[in-house]
Amino acid sequence: LKLGVLASGRGSNLQAVLDAIDAGRLDAQVVMVLSNRQDALALERAASRGIPSIYLPPSDYPQRPDYDRKLAELLKSAGADALLLAGYMRLITTELLEAFPGRIINIHPALLPAFPGLHAQRQAIDHGVRFSGCTVHFVDEGLDSGPIILQAVVPVLIDDNEDTLAARILKEEHRILPEALQRMAEGRLRIEGRRVIIE
Ligand code: GRF
Repeated sequence: LKLGVLASGRGSNLQAVLDAIDAGRLDAQVVMVLSNRQDALALERAASRGIPSIYLPPSDYPQRPDYDRKLAELLKSAGADALLLAGYMRLITTELLEAFPGRIINIHPALLPAFPGLHAQRQAIDHGVRFSGCTVHFVDEGLDSGPIILQAVVPVLIDDNEDTLAARILKEEHRILPEALQRMAEGRLRIEGRRVIIE
């Protein structure tokens, strides 16, 4: 699996992917990391390993499809055959969806379809749910709405705040994201309507 990665922030999920590759648990290669934020720690993590890492300023592309076309072009030239959104805080357009049909994966810190969008952990706490978790899913044109690959559940404790819950969920993210990618690398994921069949 030749993975391109889009990330906007700290990049701990990218790190989990790199660690899984190092440990031989994930048969993949990260061929490029792109960010819409210059200060994204994800860029540093990749650059320190010699992975091509590029900050692409959104302000240079007032039209979002133009931005995504540029991303697709860079990713293709790096040889990416799948795309991972690892804390990428922008919606993607059809330019990217069509460049990697059925090959874009996102990680979301809630049990979708509950709590899509921003601040999923805060949404879970405010709603008073007793369990939350994380979801690895294929990306479609909606917001956190594509076919679900893997999920993991964590309890929401009575004295949790957004940060303590986020930390508990993040541990599970780091576990199931490489797992899902490995299934993709093995060619075991098949999308059937809304569902993902794991063969
Ligand atoms: C994670 O919670 C992920 O689920 C969400 O954004 C956060 C990114 O964290 N999409 P990191 O940049 O991977 O550390």
